[in-house]
Amino acid sequence: MVYNPAEDTYFLLDNVKNIKGKVLELGCGSCYVLSNINSDFKVGCDLIKPDSLKDDVEFVLGDCRKAPIREGSFEQIIFNPPYLPSDKIIDIAVDGGKGGVEVTLKFLITSLRIVKKPGRIYFILSSLSDYGRVEQFLKKMKIKYTKKQKELFFETLYLYTVNNV
Ligand SMILES: C[S@@+](CC[C@H](N)C(=O)[O-])C[C@H]1O[C@@H](n2cnc3c(N)ncnc32)[C@H](O)[C@@H]1O
Repeated sequence: MVYNPAEDTYFLLDNVKNIKGKVLELGCGSCYVLSNINSDFKVGCDLIKPDSLKDDVEFVLGDCRKAPIREGSFEQIIFNPPYLPSDKIIDIAVDGGKGGVEVTLKFLITSLRIVKKPGRIYFILSSLSDYGRVEQFLKKMKIKYTKKQKELFFETLYLYTVNNV
């Protein structure tokens, strides 16, 4: 089932609405975020096809970790990954694997390969996930990032921005 836009979707969109250049969204779901970004080159990838697509959004069906996309081909990569801790991945829209960050780490590794220099990666995580593991990974790789947060009733959402310089 296609993921319906939710608070995490809107938080991502609020922070990427005006980004420029070629934009790729990993796990784009309904393509709500891409549809509302001002860039004129937008590509989404997901394991589930959206119900409808705007003319200015290209869609690639499949596992975005295996998408045959050239290194350094997108200035902006965005994702709101499945981030709930789960022993197994049963619901691909929300189950993030152990600590809720296994899928995120895979998306991040893919993004670091595909992102242009200079370029940016924006992604969402939640206080419900073991986000510290992702921060440790970034620090170990000597990758600088900034972090913004949004308090919700039941969780805090984090928006990470990685500058690829
Ligand atoms: C939390 S939803 C976010 C959807 C959309 N980006 C949004 O913000 O509304 C996570 C999305 O990642 C997709 N997904 C999970 N694993 C994937 C993979 N390996 N390759 C492509 N998409 C994947 C799911 O199908 C789902 O649409």
